[in-house]
Amino acid sequence: MSGLCVFLLACVLPLSLASPDRQDPFLWLSALRGRGYVEGSLLADTTGGECPAECDCPPSFPIAMYCDGRGLTAMPNVPSRMKYLYLQHNEISAMPDSALANATNLVWVMMHHNALSTDKIGKRVFAKLQGLERLYLQHNNLTRVPPNLPRSLRDLRLNNNNINKITPAALNGMDNLTILYLHDNALTEMGMSLRGLNSLTLLDVSGNKLKKVPDSLPERLHQLYLESNAISAVPEGFLSKFSQLQYIRMAHNQLTDNGIPPNTFNVSGLVELDLSFNQLERIPLVSQTLEHLYLQANHIKEFTLGSFCGVVDVMNFSKLRTLRLEGNEITPGDVPSESALCLRLANSIDV
Ligand SMILES: *[C@@H]1O[C@H](CO)[C@@H](O)[C@H](O)[C@H]1NC(C)=O
Ligand SMILES: *[C@@H]1O[C@H](CO)[C@@H](O)[C@H](O)[C@H]1NC(C)=O
Ligand SMILES: *[C@@H]1O[C@H](CO)[C@@H](O)[C@H](O)[C@H]1NC(C)=O
Ligand SMILES: *[C@@H]1O[C@H](CO)[C@@H](O)[C@H](O)[C@H]1NC(C)=O
Ligand SMILES: *[C@@H]1O[C@H](CO)[C@@H](O)[C@H](O)[C@H]1NC(C)=O
Repeated sequence: MSGLCVFLLACVLPLSLASPDRQDPFLWLSALRGRGYVEGSLLADTTGGECPAECDCPPSFPIAMYCDGRGLTAMPNVPSRMKYLYLQHNEISAMPDSALANATNLVWVMMHHNALSTDKIGKRVFAKLQGLERLYLQHNNLTRVPPNLPRSLRDLRLNNNNINKITPAALNGMDNLTILYLHDNALTEMGMSLRGLNSLTLLDVSGNKLKKVPDSLPERLHQLYLESNAISAVPEGFLSKFSQLQYIRMAHNQLTDNGIPPNTFNVSGLVELDLSFNQLERIPLVSQTLEHLYLQANHIKEFTLGSFCGVVDVMNFSKLRTLRLEGNEITPGDVPSESALCLRLANSIDV
C-alpha cells in the first residue's frame, strides 16, 4: 500500500525533481519528505518525528500537532509523542476507540467546534489518557458527557452541545477538576453529579433548563454561573458552606421574594451578585462587603436602605460600588437621602 502511494506521488512530481540525472537519485524523496508526504499520510522525518500530511508539527515544538480549521472530516493518526492536539474548527463527526490509541501522552485535546455526536465517540477513546488535563468539546452535538473520561482532567469544556442528562458517575473522582463549562446545553437537573469535585472553582451551567440550584455544589467554588435557567427558589442557607465564593450570576431566572430565604445573600466574601431579570419585588438583604449588585428588570417597588446597611453611621457603610435598579417600579425620588452615607462608595446608582 505505501509503495503504491510513493509511486503515485512520484508520478505527479515535477520532472526536474524526479530526473535520474541528479546526483542523488533519492533527492525527490527528500523533497517529498519536506512537504510532509510519503507513506500514505505519516512521515518519519529528521525534524521532529512523523506527522500526518494534513497537520503541522513544528520541529521547534515536536510534541504539538496542529490540525485546526482544515475541513477535516475524520481523525488523523496521532503519533505517540504528542502532548498537545489541536483539532478544533473541523467537521469531524466520529472518534472511534482506535483514534487516540497510540497517543497516551496527551495532555491537551482541543476538539471544539466539530460535529461529534455521543453515539460516535468510542467508549474507551479517552480512557487511556492518564495525563489528560484539558479537554475541549464545546460546540459539538453531544447529548451526554463522554464516558470514561480520565480523572486527571483539570479543565473540561462541554458547553454548547445538547447534553440533557448527566449521570452521577460521569465526573466522579475528578479530584483536580477546577473548571467545568456545561453552559448552553439542555440539562433539567444535575443530580449528584457534582459531588466530590473538591478542586472545582468555576462552574458554568447557565443556559440550561434547571429548575433548582444543583445539589452538592463543591465547596471551593469561586464562581457560580446559573443564569438563564428556570430557577424560582434557592435552598435555605445555600451559600453558607462556601468560603471562597465571590461571583454569583442568577440573571434571567424566575426568582421571587418567597424563593429567597432571609439571610441568603448576607454572607461575607461575595464580590458580585447578579439577580437581574427575575421577579423580585424587594431588594434582598446583602452583605456589607458586596461590591456589585445587579437587580435591573425585576418588579422592585421600594428602595430599602436596610438591605445594604443595618445601622447607618460613620463606621457602618456598604462596600457597594455598582448598584443597578433600572427597569423596576421605583424612581430616583424613592432613594432616601441617607443613602449617601450608607452607599458612599457607589459610583452610580442606576434607577
Ligand atoms: C499505532 O501504532 C501502530 C504501530 O506503530 C500503527 O500500526 C498504527 O497504525 C497506529 N495507530 C494509529 C491510530 O495511529
Ligand atoms: C446531532 O445529532 C442528532 C442525533 O443525536 C442528529 O439527528 C443530528 O443530525 C445531529 N446534528 C448535527 C448538526 O450533526
Ligand atoms: C491531581 O494532581 C496531582 C498534583 O499534580 C497529581 O499528583 C494527581 O495524580 C492528580 N490526580 C489525578 C486523579 O490525576
Ligand atoms: C448579616 O450578617 C452579619 C454578619 O454575619 C450579621 O452581623 C448581621 O446581623 C446580619 N444581618 C441581618 C439583618 O441578619
Ligand atoms: C456597625 O454597627 C453594629 C451595630 O450597631 C456594631 O456592632 C458594629 O461594631 C458596627 N461596625 C463598625 C465597623 O463600626
